[in-house]
Amino acid sequence: MCYAIPGKIKAINEKTVVVDYFGEEKKARNEFYDLKIGDYVCAQGGFIIKKVPEKEAGEIIEAWREIFFQLQDTDLRLSRLDLDKKNINKKTGTILDRAMEGLTLKKDDLEYLFRLAAPQEIELLFKTANFLRQKYHKNSCCVHGIIEISNHCASACQYCGISRHNKNITRYRMTPEEIIAAAVEACEEYGFQALVLQSGEDPGFTAKQLSGIIKGIKKKAAVLICVSFGELGMEGLEELYDAGSRAMLMRFETSNPELYAKLHPGRALDTRLAHIRRAYELGYIIMTGSLIGIPGQTVADILDDIKLAKKLRPEMYSFGPFLPHPGTPLAACPPGQSTDVLKVMALARLVDAANAKIAVTTALETVDPSGMRQGLLSGGNTVMLNVTPLKYRRHYEIYPNKAHSGDSISSQIETTVSLLKSLGRAPTDLGIRENAEDH
Ligand code: 5AD
Repeated sequence: MCYAIPGKIKAINEKTVVVDYFGEEKKARNEFYDLKIGDYVCAQGGFIIKKVPEKEAGEIIEAWREIFFQLQDTDLRLSRLDLDKKNINKKTGTILDRAMEGLTLKKDDLEYLFRLAAPQEIELLFKTANFLRQKYHKNSCCVHGIIEISNHCASACQYCGISRHNKNITRYRMTPEEIIAAAVEACEEYGFQALVLQSGEDPGFTAKQLSGIIKGIKKKAAVLICVSFGELGMEGLEELYDAGSRAMLMRFETSNPELYAKLHPGRALDTRLAHIRRAYELGYIIMTGSLIGIPGQTVADILDDIKLAKKLRPEMYSFGPFLPHPGTPLAACPPGQSTDVLKVMALARLVDAANAKIAVTTALETVDPSGMRQGLLSGGNTVMLNVTPLKYRRHYEIYPNKAHSGDSISSQIETTVSLLKSLGRAPTDLGIRENAEDH
């Protein structure tokens, strides 16, 4: 976003480009630009999305140089681990030590960690995740924007406030012109460089129309577009890729097929997974995860969620708490707990330390006002701000009392950037996953 720092190209090997950020080298993919060594670029999600003129890049880099190293120091200080494990059970210490050494944790170990109950032990789990985040990713933090383009939905997800059964909400569908204008404003006025376009499964938008919107945005703004329109079908996925989108956000919601079928009448987990796998094959970067605390979920399911998410080779993990919506059959069920979500984020960091970008979700912020801070200190390193026009935002009520549903874009940026700075984080791109270079 606004403060995404440009980097200088050090090496080019076909589509893979090595970019230097203050001495740190990250790899990114170049599909769209004619580049040479020494050029300045901005990358998002590991894709080069913009070539930046040398003078402009120099100014931005100079403005950041001093603060960048200060931020790194702050982050390093805050993520240091106290080796004195007073009041820590020996088994907890041993498992966390193994995780720090990069050894694979067994399912039993993960279950043991998820079940930790003593506050100082839970804290040590979070701190270990934060330590690993710092070790592999330094202080980089991705800041994406999301535009919720329509709340029409043909699907009947039992937990979701915009499912087709809810007759008590005002439905809206932004026009293509409104969507393009909102995206261009997010990029040009506020400096976003990665945008998620999301909607319910809206029959009012064909893949062709969505493609037209994506092309319209790409024509006017340098941005990584992430699509999140539900199960579009394999051809739809291909069409949107051809239009220029390069990321897909699709949670599998739960790894338990029976629970999935109960929560999504008429749908199957396999179909959902087929979409995610096909999107990966096509070259999309994948953002996926599940709902934590959804009724009927067991601890074993949660651990399987982490395992399944990792198998899907995501660029970003997204785990958030289930929140009961009054207009759904699950209205009376208790919400997911923020501590459980933080534990899942921490475990995802432990099992995929070097690759994982882990999102701090709005739902986590909704259950816990300090959720963003906590999430960033428990393994998280990606945040998403809501850039849907305010007049529509409150109608995208997948769950009630959604955080930031009344906050202007500038106030969200201001609070987020000041939080990131207080934690020593800088909004730079993280580069690509090591095993995803061949696309
Ligand atoms: N509580 C929390 N998250 C929800 N989502 C939908 N409904 C709810 C709810 N009641 C999440 C789903 C979906 C994403 C867009 O929003 O995980 O993938």
